[in-house]
Amino acid sequence: MSDAGKVAAGMRAAELVRPGMLVGLGTGSTVRYFLDALHEVSFIGVPSSVETARMARDRGVTITTEPDRELDLAVDGADEIDPSLNLIKGRGGALLREKLVALMAKRFVVIADESKLVPRLGIGVLPVEVVPFLWRRTAGRLAALGATWTLRGGESKPYLTDNGNLILDLIVEGGVAEPERYASTLKGVPGLCEHGLFIKMASGAIIGGSKGVRELGSVR
Ligand code: 5RP
Repeated sequence: MSDAGKVAAGMRAAELVRPGMLVGLGTGSTVRYFLDALHEVSFIGVPSSVETARMARDRGVTITTEPDRELDLAVDGADEIDPSLNLIKGRGGALLREKLVALMAKRFVVIADESKLVPRLGIGVLPVEVVPFLWRRTAGRLAALGATWTLRGGESKPYLTDNGNLILDLIVEGGVAEPERYASTLKGVPGLCEHGLFIKMASGAIIGGSKGVRELGSVR
C-alpha cells in the first residue's frame, strides 16, 4: 500500500512548527515523514520513544526528555481515529510515552492516512502496557472484563517496551462501545500501566487521502 497519505499529512503538520517551538514527537512511520519535512526548521523535539529520538537526532533535531515547560505542540500518528477524534494508539508499542508527551502539550495534532478513520474504536486490537511481574494475573483480569488478549511477540520472545514492560493486544468483541467508560475501567486494573485509548486528547487531526489533505477539529 502507498504511503502517500501519510507523507501528505506529515508535510502539512510540518507547517505548524515554528522556530524555537518545543514539539512533542510521536512514534511511527507517519511521524517519520513529519520529521523528514522539518529539516529546515530549528525547534526542540521531545521524543516519545528511543526510535523517534534516534530518527530526530539523525535529522539534526535537538531533543530533550526533560522539557521545562508545557510543549507548544505534539504531533503523533494513530492506529484508529473515531468521529470524535478519540484514538487507539500503541500498535507501534510506544503508547505510554506517547500519552505522557501528548498530555504535556498545549495542542495535540494527529497525523494519519484515511485508512485510520473508523466509525467506532476497536475494529483492530487495543494495546495495553503491563508490568512483567505476574503479568498472567493482569491478563486474567482483562479477560474477566471480556477482552481476549495476546502477548505481543509471544511467550518465547515477548516484545519489551522502552520502559521494560510487556504489551498485551486486546480484542474487544463488537468494538469499544463506550470509550471513556472503558478507559477508566482499564485504568483500574492492577498491573496495567497504561492503555492505548486516547480519549478527548486530540485537538485536531490531519488526514491524507486520495482527495488530498483534510483537517478535522482544531489543528491551528
Ligand atoms: C505507536 C503508535 C503509532 O502512532 C501508530 O501505530 C501509527 O503508526 P504509523 O504512523 O506507522 O501508521 O501508536 O505506538
